[in-house]
Amino acid sequence: MSVVALVPAAGRGERLGAEVPKALVEVHGEALLLHAARGLLASGRVQHVVIAAPSDQLDEVAAALHPLGAAHVIAGGAERTDSVRLALDEAGRVAPDADAVLVHDAARAFTPPETIRAVVDEVRRGAPAVVPVLPVSDTIKQLDASGRVESTVDRSRLRAVQTPQGFALDVLRRAHDAADGDGATDDAGLVERLGVEVRTVPGHAHALKITTAFDLAIAESVLAACAA
Ligand code: CTP
Ligand code: MG
Repeated sequence: MSVVALVPAAGRGERLGAEVPKALVEVHGEALLLHAARGLLASGRVQHVVIAAPSDQLDEVAAALHPLGAAHVIAGGAERTDSVRLALDEAGRVAPDADAVLVHDAARAFTPPETIRAVVDEVRRGAPAVVPVLPVSDTIKQLDASGRVESTVDRSRLRAVQTPQGFALDVLRRAHDAADGDGATDDAGLVERLGVEVRTVPGHAHALKITTAFDLAIAESVLAACAA
């Protein structure tokens, strides 16, 4: 099975508020995007990487990826779903032999290789779609429109979802075709709309999405050292 990884990295990183797009923010001297792409290849399960970059930063992204050698960079779109769709189209050109696909946020730069392997191996066992998940530790409440608590949600069956998400390539293509511009916050969400089964594997705390300055501080102090 040949695996292509799509890396949406075209966001501006507004909540992080750095001077450069989030994917180019450096931890221990290397861009988050480089950490993420290297982790994918280090898993030993990924043969091709396609990166959706901010359209005005293609040269900067290519330069940041230079130490890696092998990655295809394309211009991303306005929303994350658009960036994934564009990367999926490119995957058809650069990896026509691929039959499985991962979608992995550049912002989850320190996802351990074992999590990536667990996702790929579940696709290899025949799963059409796979997501890494973690139990929810906070109590979750549902509010009404005025902000008052309506109910407490039973969290025992709730899970927080990470990336990489893995798919049989034809399943992800069908999901994006059917979405027709109607996006979702993750790719498995599009697959669910097709009525296709989505399986889960254990996620990992180190796969957190770097969203805020606080998350970046965690990555700097803990995660980069673990990944080294
Ligand atoms: N992403 C993308 N194309 C977009 C928007 C987001 O490829 N048009 C990517 C981001 O680069 C990131 C991932 O999708 O790797 C998850 O998005 P998020 O964490 O929200 O990143 P940003 O959109 O950059 O951050 P913010 O929402 O704070 O601006
Ligand atoms: Mg965003």
